[in-house]
Amino acid sequence: MARAPMIAPSILSADFARLKEEADAVPGADWLHVDVMDGHFVPNLTLGLPVVEALERATDIPLDCHLMINDPDRWAPGYAEAGSQNVTVHAEAANDPRKCSRDIRAAGALAGLSIKPGTPLDDWVEVLRDYDTLLVMSVEPGFGGQKFMPEVLDKVRTARRLVDTGHLNVIVEIDGGISRDTIEAAAEAGVDCFVAGSAVYGADDPERAVEALRDQAVRVAAYLGQG
Ligand code: DX5
Ligand code: ZN
Repeated sequence: MARAPMIAPSILSADFARLKEEADAVPGADWLHVDVMDGHFVPNLTLGLPVVEALERATDIPLDCHLMINDPDRWAPGYAEAGSQNVTVHAEAANDPRKCSRDIRAAGALAGLSIKPGTPLDDWVEVLRDYDTLLVMSVEPGFGGQKFMPEVLDKVRTARRLVDTGHLNVIVEIDGGISRDTIEAAAEAGVDCFVAGSAVYGADDPERAVEALRDQAVRVAAYLGQG
């Protein structure tokens, strides 16, 4: 089965005063990952809908909004209406995840469900039948630049198996601590889409950093016979 790895640079590690230039700095990105934090679901506070709307006007790269907020049921459809390609809510925060997915899709985006490192995948497999994306967190959500947690790769392997056997139809995405040192293990476990913040925007040349990460993931996929 052919899988082309996707790279989603996270603008959490970009210069917030120059978001258009920072988007332009990664022309090869498949998605631009936007971390929305409310200071409640996670201790950090970042940006919200007005910034996403402005970014949508400023770039052609499809936006991948990761909502680390309470009551995403109420707010997620707005991010889809703004034109996001994918809108992800947290399983731990959603009141009615099935309705959330319906509302996001009805507003024109793919619907994503994210699970924190300590949240078991098994509890969410049935709900994931209604989703397009599974975002496996490989750090505790809230901050960029944290250390990758390899133990979450068991969940990735399980998700990969469920997708490859036709039980689920989701893009398997990973978020947190992805770099040249960790992307190969994540690719081997079966990730489709790699979020990378500090590894891209902390690099001297973000465009090259995206391509270097992609090359590494492609090599692993080829080695697994899936490239
Ligand atoms: C963390 C965010 C991540 C963050 C990843 O809560 O969800 O998207 O930007 O940053 P790195 O790649 O630096 O771990
Ligand atoms: Zn994120």
